[in-house]
Amino acid sequence: MVILAAGEGKRMKSRLPKVLQPLAGRPLLAHVIDTAHRLSPQRILVVHGHGGEQVRAAFPEERVSWVLQERQLGTGHAAQQAVPRVPDDDTVLVLYGDVPLLGAEPLDRLVRMGAAGELGLLTMVPEDPAGYGRIVRDASGRVARSVEQKDATPEELAIRECNTGVLAAPARRLKGWLAQLRNDNAQGEYYLTDVIGLAVSQGVVVNPVSLADPIEALGVNDKVQLARLESVCRRRAVQALMTAGVTVVDPARIDVRGSVMHGQDVFVDINVVFEGRVKLGSGVRIGPGCVIRDSEVGDDTELFPYCVLDGAVIGAAARIGPFSRVRPTTELGPGVHVGNFVEVKNSTLGRDSKANHLSYVGDAQVGARVNVGAGTIIANYDGANKHRTVIHDDAHTGSNSVLVAPITVGEGATIAAGSTVVHEVPAGKLTIARARQSTLQSWQRPVKKPK
Ligand code: UD1
Ligand code: CA
Repeated sequence: MVILAAGEGKRMKSRLPKVLQPLAGRPLLAHVIDTAHRLSPQRILVVHGHGGEQVRAAFPEERVSWVLQERQLGTGHAAQQAVPRVPDDDTVLVLYGDVPLLGAEPLDRLVRMGAAGELGLLTMVPEDPAGYGRIVRDASGRVARSVEQKDATPEELAIRECNTGVLAAPARRLKGWLAQLRNDNAQGEYYLTDVIGLAVSQGVVVNPVSLADPIEALGVNDKVQLARLESVCRRRAVQALMTAGVTVVDPARIDVRGSVMHGQDVFVDINVVFEGRVKLGSGVRIGPGCVIRDSEVGDDTELFPYCVLDGAVIGAAARIGPFSRVRPTTELGPGVHVGNFVEVKNSTLGRDSKANHLSYVGDAQVGARVNVGAGTIIANYDGANKHRTVIHDDAHTGSNSVLVAPITVGEGATIAAGSTVVHEVPAGKLTIARARQSTLQSWQRPVKKPK
């Protein structure tokens, strides 16, 4: 199996190589490699070139072999780089790194045709054929060749059947055809698609498989097509969620860029974005505007509107938001409340602890039933290093208190409002660290001098 992924993708007008452009949260090429794996081929050869190292580095763990195409002289030239690595008696299936939504079933059929000595060719009739190669048939309706849009006559441009670029053939034959390619065309490139005409001229059966649903074979050349495929992915993902029992208030206003695992009776309000790997327990309710990335949310927990969760693990029956930000490596226990304008980072909050208003909790280990008072700030950063804070069970921090880390607050301790604590706060006591209130009896308010 050969995947062509060396092109620059000029039409993307981006610094990122085309095959790394994200679709549903993953690079285009990742989708194609997944499809390839589903067919369990003997080997997967990925032809890379433009942004070569960057492309390889994006797939550190993939079980694929990389083939370098140093100069991008066309899809045929790209295939030429890979085929020497394929034994003559194998069947080669060629996939394009920018055609990411293909299912395994039609590809299986192509491979069987290739194994039978034919050229299996995947075609489609898209709504808008612009940009695709057109399939030219002879008087008796048999495939004669494929012509690129830029080389096509007006009559050929009117043809609606298009080439998906995907084909399968016996390796020995494909190698022969590739060796005969010429670049005397509008783009000065070696076209893989010219092997179709060569096969016909040698009397090899060219067997077109027409896709019932052209959406599967849509290619991504520019941002318009990328957005179109994104909406296809979004629709599929939301459909799958709803079929699996998730209540989605408006299927057009939710984005799934990754995977969502979930229990029963999950409710998702509008404009929610899921990214990466998300796990939602049963009975989870997600308010409008939440962004949830790589996080786990326990049973019956409610996220109020506009929360941002990233790398968080939240226990059962917790209440988060509105307007809370929970950052990576945070663990919130069951029954925790994190409220309005509260940011939590790299911290744990034990069972039933609360930080309800306007706080920052960073690098802290907070016990159970702790009340983090409104406006409490954990000063975890001295300008050079971060320090840890430990707050034991049942402690209360007063409103507008500052805890300068590293610091420990004892069990059941109370910190008075407005305190800045820099030393250990003893258990069970009230600690006050602020100027004492005093009233000047003799003071008089100044009055304006007469003019
Ligand atoms: C190609 C087909 C066209 C088909 C369309 C389907 C050719 C000549 N044309 O056109 O018939 O309708 O796909 O989507 O094949 N690539 C390389 N090396 C290169 C050039 C391209 O690896 O030198 C890779 C690209 O990264 C891309 C794929 O091949 O993944 C297709 O190249 P692209 O330039 O997008 O071809 P299209 O113009 O879309
Ligand atoms: Ca393309």
